[in-house]
Amino acid sequence: MSLIQEIESIYDEAVLELSKLNSEEELDTKKNLYVGKKGKLTQILKTMGSLTVDERKTLGKLANETQEKIDNLVASQRIKIKDYFYENTLKNEFFDTLRPIQEPSLNGTLHPLTQIQYEIEAIFTSMGFSIMDGPEVETDYNNFEALNFKADHPARDTQDTFYTTDGKLLRTHTSAIQVRALRNLKPPFRIIAPGRVFRYEEVDASHETTFYQVEGMVVGKDISIANLIYTMETLLSEIFQKKVKTRLRPGYFPFVEPGFELDIQCLVCGGKGCSVCKHSGWLELLPCGLVHPNVLESGGLDPKEWTGFAFGLGLDRLVMMRYGIHDIRYLHSGNLRFLKQFQS
Ligand code: FA5
Repeated sequence: MSLIQEIESIYDEAVLELSKLNSEEELDTKKNLYVGKKGKLTQILKTMGSLTVDERKTLGKLANETQEKIDNLVASQRIKIKDYFYENTLKNEFFDTLRPIQEPSLNGTLHPLTQIQYEIEAIFTSMGFSIMDGPEVETDYNNFEALNFKADHPARDTQDTFYTTDGKLLRTHTSAIQVRALRNLKPPFRIIAPGRVFRYEEVDASHETTFYQVEGMVVGKDISIANLIYTMETLLSEIFQKKVKTRLRPGYFPFVEPGFELDIQCLVCGGKGCSVCKHSGWLELLPCGLVHPNVLESGGLDPKEWTGFAFGLGLDRLVMMRYGIHDIRYLHSGNLRFLKQFQS
């Protein structure tokens, strides 16, 4: 067989083989048998060295034309394979055009933190408290100094602080609103102040860098620890709607004297110990105490005439206790599957 005949038979074979393929992978593999680097056509071209110039010209031209024809064949076969695929898929897939669509739920819902905040507001307003607000960006004076944290007071270290470049700070606790209340309200008064606070904390199951507190403050004549304890117990029994175990122990805060830590027995583990309560069975929830005379004075009140109590409730931990949530990070995750459980 002459080389010309060989080239023609390669083309005939390619037409026969390639036009019966129905997968693109196979097409790519098989086409290389004819026109690839090691393909039959290339092999023939390699033997042309022994031919005359004229023969080479004729054969070269034929080989190029054959290569082009095989490339065109591959391209049109590729289109056929794609068409076949789409046709087949459409034939086999069934669309039920009459099936009713599932409406996406468009109802928003209050975040559990907001829900519990509103409940607390209702409990306290029914006890004659009013609700106060304050800015999240505060002065060092309102957040620390007027609360008896002097410049180098070591207790400042317990509330690692985010400072702004203009010398202010993100309030580390809602106690900053106490200072505003003392300056702006005429005693006697009772206020609560819910709000977001910020601390440069290591995040774990019970600590966030951004969390919520509710401050409470009562100023009047002869306010005692008994008034404080009664108010705390009323709050907890209303919120949990059941008797919860609490313990009161001494706690140090520069702006109260005496100061207490009111802990709640962990409701996530029932007091057995878990990551939320750091395996102690108890969770710090409600620090409180009688307002320090220095704080009353910096608010312009005479501590001989006026007394008061204050507390700072950790709202995130309260939500965790109420619903048995074992990680605070869920509360700020924006996870809809988590949040939908609190749809009211
Ligand atoms: C205070 O912030 C005081 N201002 C509370 C106070 C007010 C004491 C009035 C006395 C009188 P403390 O740093 O312990 O205290 O925080 C109060 C509560 O906030 C804690 O009991 C806890 O429930 C919550 N809390 C504190 N740090 C975090 C945190 N990183 N993440 C989540 N909750 C926190």
